[in-house]
Amino acid sequence: MKKIFISGVLLLCSLISYGQTSIILDAKGSDQQISRHIYGHFAEHLGRSIYGGFYVGEDNTKIPHVNGVRKDVIAALKNLNIPNLRWPGGCFADTYHWKDGIGPKNERPTIVNTWWGGVTENNSFGTHDFLNLCEILETEPYLAGNVGSGSVQEMMDWVQYTNSKEGNPMAKLRQENGRAEPWQVKYWGIGNEPWGCGGNMDAEFYANLYKQYATYLGKGYLEGGIYRIASGPAGDDYNWTEVLMKKIPLSLMEGIALHHYAVTDWEAKGPSTTFDEKQYFGTMRQALLMNELVEKHSAIMDKYDPQKKIGLVVDEWGGWYEVEPGTNPGFLYQQNTMRDAMIAGATLNIFNNHSDRVRMANLAQTINVLQAVILTDEEKMLLTPTYHVMEMYKVHQDATLLPLQVKSAEYQFGDDKLPAVWASASRNKQGLTHISLVNVHASKAQEISIDIKGANYKKLNGRILSSKKLQDYNTFENPNLITPKAFKDAKLRDNTLSLQVPPFSVVVLALQ
Ligand code: AHR
Repeated sequence: MKKIFISGVLLLCSLISYGQTSIILDAKGSDQQISRHIYGHFAEHLGRSIYGGFYVGEDNTKIPHVNGVRKDVIAALKNLNIPNLRWPGGCFADTYHWKDGIGPKNERPTIVNTWWGGVTENNSFGTHDFLNLCEILETEPYLAGNVGSGSVQEMMDWVQYTNSKEGNPMAKLRQENGRAEPWQVKYWGIGNEPWGCGGNMDAEFYANLYKQYATYLGKGYLEGGIYRIASGPAGDDYNWTEVLMKKIPLSLMEGIALHHYAVTDWEAKGPSTTFDEKQYFGTMRQALLMNELVEKHSAIMDKYDPQKKIGLVVDEWGGWYEVEPGTNPGFLYQQNTMRDAMIAGATLNIFNNHSDRVRMANLAQTINVLQAVILTDEEKMLLTPTYHVMEMYKVHQDATLLPLQVKSAEYQFGDDKLPAVWASASRNKQGLTHISLVNVHASKAQEISIDIKGANYKKLNGRILSSKKLQDYNTFENPNLITPKAFKDAKLRDNTLSLQVPPFSVVVLALQ
């Protein structure tokens, strides 16, 4: 009888296979703050991001809006506490002439959006519309200036228009267009991907051009000065970072950008929902490469800027797949599954843990494009699994980083392997500690034990984002299939936390 019972237990254990992960949490803290700007977003004039996503027009009678901007979108983004929003591109930024988007809407010129679908852009959403939207969202605007096909004068004018109070031509023009006070825009990107769609330049050429722009933008009419962001490397182009850091004086640059998408093959990106485990593993390998990219670019920056004055700004990141069947290939519209929740959760943990250098990041993109947090279909709107991760993680914004030592179980696929567990922790101003954990393993749950040093927590709460299948996603018919739930599988005893985290799930714990 006893023998039968033991072999029954053994059989059960082999059916439910667990990985073992151990973590040490240094609850005493650090002198590192996780900038809320790591939780930034990106909205380009691309597909249905602006038109149909954010903006449905002042005359729309079907979809509730404020000055043409959807009310449901405003409410959803406010709930994320989005700290900043990058606009108007992307590649579009280097074709955009901001003066086309001001003044009476019926007098604005139309242009063709040459990068994205060749559609007509009527410029009805321009500078005032965007900056007023940011005020409603209580978020900081991040404007990307046109270097590829613009001029230093054009960008200087834009800064003057948005930031100067009075006494010069652009402030006067802004006032004539109905806005008395300047918006005081702090974040300015000088071009976008100059090594590609932004002009196919080499690093030396761009560094010289950058210095010219940065010199004339100067302090940008802002007390304390504007935050000028140089267009940085694509992925592992370490030479680009080296050249920029070597050639640009630290006094002319506040941030340097990095773009990295989780793509396995640019010629065959694979479907957004009907992927297999091989494709999933490949995507995660690319997403998790972010850790190495951030560390290696930071090491180069450390050589020239040991005091870490310049921020690494990862202003485009996320998953990129084939577009949904039947949609315009130039619109980059894709669905968002639990795979995307894994990318978001793990990447944000990487940024948190490197917040000494990563000061800002922008998920690409907010609505209806790439790894969106919101999808819309006329009057319908849904929140994606990525949205829910961002919402669960907002507790880390501006909190103090608590260092973790993670000994993770492995996620093995074929001959390849990745760490299965990705985590970060912080303490907020109210004294609440949060630990975010992601188990990227496609089939194995993780037994995680967290040894807490330097604090004595008494209370524990948690939330989990999980689903039956990795390929699951929210639809307009079933928008709440994937939403955060209360997490019950954690125990706190004698300063040790023990929890079981299911495969492909995200957990955020709150400790007091
Ligand atoms: O996010 C889509 C595009 O990807 C952006 O326009 C460009 O900067 C990048 O290549």
